[in-house]
Amino acid sequence: MANNKIQHIAIIMDGNGRWAEKRGLTRTEGHYAGSSNVKKIVKASIKYKVKYLSLYAFSTENWKRPKTEINILMKLLSRFIKKETEEFHRNNIRLLVSGDITVMPTGIRNEINRVIELTRNNTKFILNVCLNYGSRDEILNAVRSILKDFKKGKIKEERIDEKLFQKYLYNGELLPDPDLLIRTSGELRISNFLLWQIAYSEFYFTQTLWPDFNEQELGKAIEVYKKRNRRFGGL
Ligand code: IPE
Ligand code: IPE
Ligand code: MG
Repeated sequence: MANNKIQHIAIIMDGNGRWAEKRGLTRTEGHYAGSSNVKKIVKASIKYKVKYLSLYAFSTENWKRPKTEINILMKLLSRFIKKETEEFHRNNIRLLVSGDITVMPTGIRNEINRVIELTRNNTKFILNVCLNYGSRDEILNAVRSILKDFKKGKIKEERIDEKLFQKYLYNGELLPDPDLLIRTSGELRISNFLLWQIAYSEFYFTQTLWPDFNEQELGKAIEVYKKRNRRFGGL
């Protein structure tokens, strides 16, 4: 029986809106509940000896949503950073952000950069928040950066392999590929998340909506993952 090691979990945190709708609440309240759940899942991940957690918080496609909802998501994000980071720092947790944050409101951007800097040397756990993240955008960015370095003579064409390419992805030098990808809320799609990195990840889809996804559910996902037969193309 397999007993796979688990190092990195990635989660598509979906279903805040439907969670609220089911309760006759506003979407805002759904997002509020969803953002409160993040801390619990960070704690649970540490308890389960996971080392890296990547969370899909805002996609490059989420800008299509109404302005009012986008504003609420940004507010919750800044509230989360203000409220939780001191405790994360005390607990030796490092915060990373993957995505193009140059387009985020200046206040939030400064706050994010401050926290990344503050927690830079923390080693117990890495929380990677994917913000204005899109995998196609990430891959195109990598291609552009590689071209620039090629033109400067920093890299040779023959050296462009998978390992080098990965280094040009967001935090590519720091994050191993996810072992397990979880999506809540019953949707069976990837929605432009980590397309390069999940080539050999195990998938776990659950009907549970993100605000209801708890320590026990995470434990169940990990148990299922551990029993999977990972072959990576071998036998
Ligand atoms: C996930 O919940 C949060 C974000 C995408 C920011 P949704 O807002 O997508 O919730 P549903 O899918 O409408 O239920
Ligand atoms: C994916 O959820 C993005 C995040 C969880 C941040 P969406 O709700 O935006 O995805 P679709 O639109 O259902 O594919
Ligand atoms: Mg959704």
